[in-house]
Amino acid sequence: MTVTASMPDSESAPLLEIDDLSKIFHIRQGFASQEFHAVDNASFVIDSDKPEIFAVVGESGSGKTTLAKMILGMESASQGILRYKNRVVNDLSRKEMKTWFYHEVQPVFQDPFAAFSPLKRIDSYLYETAQNYKMVENKKETPRYINEVLSAVGLTLAEIAGRYPNELSGGQAQRVAIARALITHPSLIVADEPVSMLDASLRMSIVNMFRKLKEDNKVSVIYITHDLATAYYTGDRIAVMLRGWIVEMGPTEQVLGNPLHPYTQNLKSSIPSIRSSEAWEEKIDLAVIEADEYTRTGCKFAGRCPAVMDICHDNVPPSIMHEGRSVKCFLYDDAVDAEKKRMLTPATG
Ligand SMILES: Nc1ncnc2c1ncn2[C@@H]1O[C@H](COP(=O)(O)OP(=O)(O)OP(=O)(O)O)[C@@H](O)[C@H]1O
Ligand SMILES: [Mg+2]
Repeated sequence: MTVTASMPDSESAPLLEIDDLSKIFHIRQGFASQEFHAVDNASFVIDSDKPEIFAVVGESGSGKTTLAKMILGMESASQGILRYKNRVVNDLSRKEMKTWFYHEVQPVFQDPFAAFSPLKRIDSYLYETAQNYKMVENKKETPRYINEVLSAVGLTLAEIAGRYPNELSGGQAQRVAIARALITHPSLIVADEPVSMLDASLRMSIVNMFRKLKEDNKVSVIYITHDLATAYYTGDRIAVMLRGWIVEMGPTEQVLGNPLHPYTQNLKSSIPSIRSSEAWEEKIDLAVIEADEYTRTGCKFAGRCPAVMDICHDNVPPSIMHEGRSVKCFLYDDAVDAEKKRMLTPATG
């Protein structure tokens, strides 16, 4: 029998609310230092009544990991609010983090082998987690419980019992890492590039597993990836990040089927077939990324945008609801002169 933790008044609240969340770091330039927003006013909500896979995509340095770390309480927010089931994560005590938050919110990282000591048998992690979180009433029940959790990731305890991490394939190790995350019966898994170190053939099987976990175990997954194809295949919704901004967000079918932001259009056109399992990082050619993109005034994409207008250089575009998604671009802003939109500066590069 399992024992689950709960907090009062938290069940009807959204699972996760992110409201104008920012993380500010400093870049050293000689003796001076300049602030930049690694995550810049990000907002979204994950509902508690309907589990979903929320994909977060964007090129390297767009703030995906920083966002994940803030959600996981591993990095404090500089500005804005992050609530999990109505509780402000930054305000939780260490005890609440340990006994409640990490019961409910679990991470999965890129490198499964980094999560396990090479000197420790891999099943011992599952036993420890089950016992630490009191998931079973008595020790005798632990193997049965672990076996049940492993079956959700397509493994059995017999397959991994007594084995060391280096005796497992990358795909098996990542499955064990996901099983370990599932031990506590989480409501939310934050998976940061969980398939990027795996062969293309294994990527789909892990990604399919997230879909199955959502259906069978009612777990929501924040799926962070470089791989637009698996994001398209798995994500119910998608957020496209650029230099800390969420530039486009909505149902994946809409956003990737008919991207509106010039950056999303650029991403999509960079992969030959979105349905193929090819990773976009090898294919993408996003021109030269400008160093000042984090700190520039106006739109961060203005320097490489094929549809740039004068207004984009000095003004931050608003997030506008358009065709079923939010898009952070003046092109969809009715307040911007139609004449200006017609006079788009043509691409030069
Ligand atoms: N602790 C830190 N101190 C200073 N800058 C940081 C720190 N962590 C991240 N950054 C910077 O913040 C920006 C966003 O980094 P982040 O790792 O969140 O990007 P990412 O989207 O996960 O990239 P990748 O796809 O390469 O994993 C980068 O410019 C990075 O160098
Ligand atoms: Mg990252």
